[in-house]
Amino acid sequence: MARTVLTGIKPTGTPHLGNYVGAIKPALALAKAAASALYFVADYHALTIIHDARKLRDSVQEVAATWLALGLDPTKVAFYRQSDVPETFELAWILSCFTAKGLMNRAHAYKAAVARNLESRGGAAGVDDIDDLDAGINLGLYSYPVLMAADILLFKTNVVPVGKDQAQHIEIARDIAQRFNAIYGPILVLPEARIDADTAVIPGLDGRKMSKSYDNIIPLFSPPERLRKLIFKYKTDSSPPSEPKDPDTSTLFHLYREFATPEETEALRGRYRSGIGWGEAKEAVFEVLSRTLEEPRRRYAELMADPARVDALLTEGAARAREMAQGTIQETRRAVFAR
Ligand code: TRP
Repeated sequence: MARTVLTGIKPTGTPHLGNYVGAIKPALALAKAAASALYFVADYHALTIIHDARKLRDSVQEVAATWLALGLDPTKVAFYRQSDVPETFELAWILSCFTAKGLMNRAHAYKAAVARNLESRGGAAGVDDIDDLDAGINLGLYSYPVLMAADILLFKTNVVPVGKDQAQHIEIARDIAQRFNAIYGPILVLPEARIDADTAVIPGLDGRKMSKSYDNIIPLFSPPERLRKLIFKYKTDSSPPSEPKDPDTSTLFHLYREFATPEETEALRGRYRSGIGWGEAKEAVFEVLSRTLEEPRRRYAELMADPARVDALLTEGAARAREMAQGTIQETRRAVFAR
């Protein structure tokens, strides 16, 4: 059966090792195996937060160059900017007319923003305070899940690779599609989330999950000297080199495993068991990481030096995506207006 895979990438922050292992690598593998794949930079979603045009433009460029450098093949995957596919916004409006407002009240991102407002006013609020509780929350953020549903449903997507935090959004997209289909017949396809496995969560410099918000990241395209320095920052205990060590509880070992071949991983496991110095373990991690990232780092630099090329690729991708969107747009228009 033909399967369509789609995902949106928010243009924020410096991409790090955790993003690569947990999200980018599995998404690229999925695209390779799919009958049809669409990956896009979600610039209109970013606009709910980023109101600095230059910063937004630079982030789009950065994230597009990152995915291309890591192996996204734009001849196989329709790779585009969300804002270049206006059919998305037409469908978003149609869908919003089938979305219960209450459903949006229950969306995590909105609820979290309300909770922060509640906390900042000392935790006490009555019904009359509803305006205060919505302070600083724009309508775009509130209806974020509808736009995301449009991204997905526009292409009759079957599979959506996303992080755990996005699971609710996929559920919402299914909900909306079901409501629409209940009235007009089976026009929209219910998508399935493909959630990144927890095992792929890679440890940051302090041993917690690597995340920008913990300030413990290793940027993907750090120059070699910087990469080495960061790896040597991983905290280790004071056990002497000769002492046998448990690979399964070692952050460095986990990191190594994500980038090494199975044979290399087994070999390092043996060295842990017979005693390895932490310096040696770090050196091994550095080597396997540099080897994997050297080529992408070079390609990334090339792409960043040639924004016009990245732009042209995204524009081409958008033209293809728009063509693929025509079927759904015509069917939904015909359905809701009987014309
Ligand atoms: N909301 C997603 C995120 O924050 C990005 C996104 C936008 C997306 N539209 C999408 C992901 C459609 C999957 C499908 O990561």
